[in-house]
Amino acid sequence: MRPLQNFSSFLLLIFIIIICLKIYHIHAQFDIETDPDDEEDESVEDETPEEKAARKSIQEDSNLTVDKLIAKYGYPAEVHHVTTEDGYILTMHRIRRQGAQPFFLQHGLVDSSAGYVIMGPNISLAYLLSDYKYDVWLGNARGNRYSRNHTKLDPDGKKFWDFSWHEIGMYDLPAMIDYVLKTTGFKKIQYAGHSQGCTAFFVMCSRRPEYNKKVIMMQAMAPAVYATETEEHPYIRAISLYFRSLVGSSVTEMFNGEFRFLCRMTEETERLCIEAVFGIVGRNWDEFNRKMFPVILGHYPAGVAAKQVKHFIQVIKNGRFAPYSYSSNKNLAIYKEHIPPRYNLSLVTVPTYVYYSTNDLLCHPEDVEAMYKDLGNPIGKYLIPMPEFNHMDFLWAMNVRKLVYARMLRVLGKIKDHKKANNPASAVIVNSVQQSRERRRRR
Ligand SMILES: *[C@@H]1O[C@H](CO)[C@@H](O)[C@H](O)[C@H]1NC(C)=O
Ligand SMILES: *[C@@H]1O[C@H](CO)[C@@H](O)[C@H](O)[C@H]1NC(C)=O
Ligand SMILES: *[C@@H]1O[C@H](CO)[C@@H](O)[C@H](O)[C@H]1NC(C)=O
Ligand SMILES: *[C@@H]1O[C@H](CO)[C@@H](O)[C@H](O)[C@H]1NC(C)=O
Repeated sequence: MRPLQNFSSFLLLIFIIIICLKIYHIHAQFDIETDPDDEEDESVEDETPEEKAARKSIQEDSNLTVDKLIAKYGYPAEVHHVTTEDGYILTMHRIRRQGAQPFFLQHGLVDSSAGYVIMGPNISLAYLLSDYKYDVWLGNARGNRYSRNHTKLDPDGKKFWDFSWHEIGMYDLPAMIDYVLKTTGFKKIQYAGHSQGCTAFFVMCSRRPEYNKKVIMMQAMAPAVYATETEEHPYIRAISLYFRSLVGSSVTEMFNGEFRFLCRMTEETERLCIEAVFGIVGRNWDEFNRKMFPVILGHYPAGVAAKQVKHFIQVIKNGRFAPYSYSSNKNLAIYKEHIPPRYNLSLVTVPTYVYYSTNDLLCHPEDVEAMYKDLGNPIGKYLIPMPEFNHMDFLWAMNVRKLVYARMLRVLGKIKDHKKANNPASAVIVNSVQQSRERRRRR
C-alpha cells in the first residue's frame, strides 16, 4: 500500500507544481516587483551575530514539536492523550493555567495544533489567550502527525484512513471537549476554530446537539462550510480531476510532508512554493513574513485523509453542506435516502461570532454570509478590514493581532469595545466584494 500512496502523492505534487509554474508565469509577466525583499542579497557570511541567532532560532522552531516549541518560549506546556469512541488516539497540547477558564482551539485542514503557535508569542493566538488568563487547549484531529494512532487500527493501513471531517465533528471534538471539562472541572469551554475547525464544530453541534451546552461561545475564523462560490478555484478543479483518475481513487493519506525538501532547495523554489500556497489560499505578500517560511514548512502540511479532501470537494460540487456521499445504493443503506441529508445549522445554538475576508479563495464572503443566516444563534460577523487578507492570514499575518484577535478579545469582553461596534472599514470592503463579484461574472 505504502509505495503506491507515496507514488500517487508524488504525482499530485508534480501536478500542482505544473499548475504553480503556470500561475507563477502569469504573475511574473504582469507584476514583476511583487516582493520588495527580492533584491536583497542575504549572504550568510555577512550576517551579524543577532541575525545568526535569529536564523538558528527559526531553524530550531521549524524542527520542534508543539509542546517543545511552547516550552521554548517560556510557557508551561503539557501533552495529553485522548481516545475517541471509535478508538483514535488524539494528542492535545495545553498551555496550562491552572484554575482558569479553558479555551479550546481547533485547527484547519492539513494543519495541526502548531497553527496556533508557530508565529511565536508576539503573534500567535494561543499565547495571546494565555496572556489573557485562559487555560489554552489545542486539539489535533485524527490523522495529523500528532494523532496518527489507534487502539486497534494500523495507521499505515487503509482502514485507519476511512474518515472525513464528519468523524472529526462526531467523535474527535466531543472526546476532546469532554476530556478538557473532566480534567479542569469546568462545565463549559470557550471555543475558536479556523476553517475545518469550524466545519467539524458545526457538524458536532448539529448532530450531537447536547454539545451546544458545553460551549460558552464559538469564534469561527474563515469557516469553510458553504462553498458554492469556491467552484471556480483552479486547484479545486485540478484536485477533483485527480481524484477521478485511477491513481487518485486509491489514495488514503495525503500531504504528509512531501513538499518540504523541494521548497527549501533554493530561493527560487521557496518563492514558487509560497506562490503555490497563495494560489490556494489567496495572495497577500504584504502580511506574509517570509523569514518565517521555514517554520511554516516545518509544520505544514501535517497530514490528512484523502476522504477529508474529497468530502470538501463534494460540498463544493454539490452545493450542499451534508455528510459524505457514496453511491446511491450505499447512501440508501447508510442514510435511508439517495443523497445524504444536510446538516441542520439551525441546531447550532452556541452563540457564534464569525470572522471572514474578501481575498479568502477557500471561503467566499457570500458563502459565509449565507451560512451566517442559517446558524441557530449568530451573534456577530466581522469582515477583516483589509481586502487582501487571505485564508491563512488568520494564523500567519504579521498584523493578525490588530486585524483579528483584538476584535476577538473585545467579543470575549477582555478589552473594552470602542463606541463603534461595527467594522469601521466596512464601506471599503463592501466595495471590494462587489468588485470581486463583477470580476467573477465577467470571467
Ligand atoms: C531537526 O531534527 C532532526 C532530527 O530530530 C535533526 O537531525 C536535525 O539536525 C534538526 N535540524 C535542525 C536545524 O535543528
Ligand atoms: C516580542 O516583542 C518584544 C518587544 O517588541 C521583543 O523584545 C521580543 O524579542 C519579541 N519576542 C519574539 C519571540 O519575537
Ligand atoms: C499509540 O498508542 C499506544 C497506546 O494504545 C501507545 O502504546 C503507543 O506508544 C502509541 N504509538 C505512538 C506512535 O504514539
Ligand atoms: C432544522 O431544525 C429545526 C429546529 O429543530 C427544524 O425546525 C427544521 O425543520 C429542521 N430543518 C430540517 C431541514 O430538518
